Amino acid sequence: MSTLDPKQVDAVVLVGGKGTRLRPLTLSKPKPMLPTAGLPFLTHLLSRIAAAGIEHVVLGTSFQAEVFEVEFGDGAKLGLQIDYVFEPEPLGTGGGIANVLPALRHDTVAVFNGDVLSGVDELELLRFHAEKNADVTLHLVRVADPRAFGSVPTDADGRVTAFLEKTQDPPTDQINAGCYVFNRAVIEALPRGRELSVEREVFPRLLADGVPIFGYVDASYWRDMGTPEDFVRGSADLVRGIAPSPALAGHRGESLVHDGASVAPGALLYGGTVVGRGAEIGPGVRLDGAVIFDGAKVEAGSVIERSIVGYGAKIGPRALIRDGIVGDGADIGARCELLRGARVWPGVVLPDCGIRYSSDV
Ligand code: GTP
Repeated sequence: MSTLDPKQVDAVVLVGGKGTRLRPLTLSKPKPMLPTAGLPFLTHLLSRIAAAGIEHVVLGTSFQAEVFEVEFGDGAKLGLQIDYVFEPEPLGTGGGIANVLPALRHDTVAVFNGDVLSGVDELELLRFHAEKNADVTLHLVRVADPRAFGSVPTDADGRVTAFLEKTQDPPTDQINAGCYVFNRAVIEALPRGRELSVEREVFPRLLADGVPIFGYVDASYWRDMGTPEDFVRGSADLVRGIAPSPALAGHRGESLVHDGASVAPGALLYGGTVVGRGAEIGPGVRLDGAVIFDGAKVEAGSVIERSIVGYGAKIGPRALIRDGIVGDGADIGARCELLRGARVWPGVVLPDCGIRYSSDV
């Protein structure tokens, strides 16, 4: 039986992945805990769940599981009741859903990938699920370029007709947005205790078995934060108010500077830049869509564009970082240039002019 009363719905958030595509940032913190517009990413998602009126949340944890409970405790601060279910070995997205079964309280379960920034109307999604009498409903989002994703066509009634792999010529611009409503009975029937992918195994199998799967389609804000490029864009969109987050209510601007950070006069911060607590930004620095974690230091005249600078890292004078990641505590010498996907591992020291893309020093 499906319901549209959010108080009678469990939210399950999958947060157990290793976040390999965001290394080295995810060596010290799981992806859903990385600071995004100054808050752990998961805070934005949990505050959306709370704003929708859902009260009970189960976090499916595995990699670095302990940090979630330290941050969110019983959930009371966010107006939620949070339970934690731990997978000693990661079971994949489908295995993670099956594994939380003993913690569920209700017959309708909204499942969220813990790394998606989305503006979906959760109540509309639940209403649609109940109206269609669906067993499973997927949030499908229409994207400008679906070629990078598997696409999910639906028929005139909204019923999913196929799960298609990535192709150069997808028949629809609807893609799986990483948010689902399940009737509990479907979760009860999943195999338990083994690795299982919800996208690649569970959904295609249910479809083949004739289970009614529907797609709730919208064109709301949507971004999977799994890659450095998307993480930087998503963070900037939160700062600028383009991506919705009840946790940042009222904030909208070109930059966000946190308490205890110092920004020298003449530094330019824009493009949704965020500067963490205790960070120091020197004179003449230009930060465009930069994510500067707590305690990092950027010295005079450096330019940082669409890049992430980890906790306590230091960027020497007149360095250039564009589309890169500097790991926690790394020390980048004066006039170094890090471009196009460069990733510096935590604690690495690069001497002055140690990496250049031109001979002009
Ligand atoms: P990559 O290694 O960079 O692909 O990242 P990831 O491990 O987070 O995988 P992916 O982006 O596909 O995961 C989507 C969501 O599911 C994320 O919020 C993950 O934390 C979560 N997730 C992935 N694998 C597991 C798992 O085995 N168990 C649980 N509980 N959650 C998972």
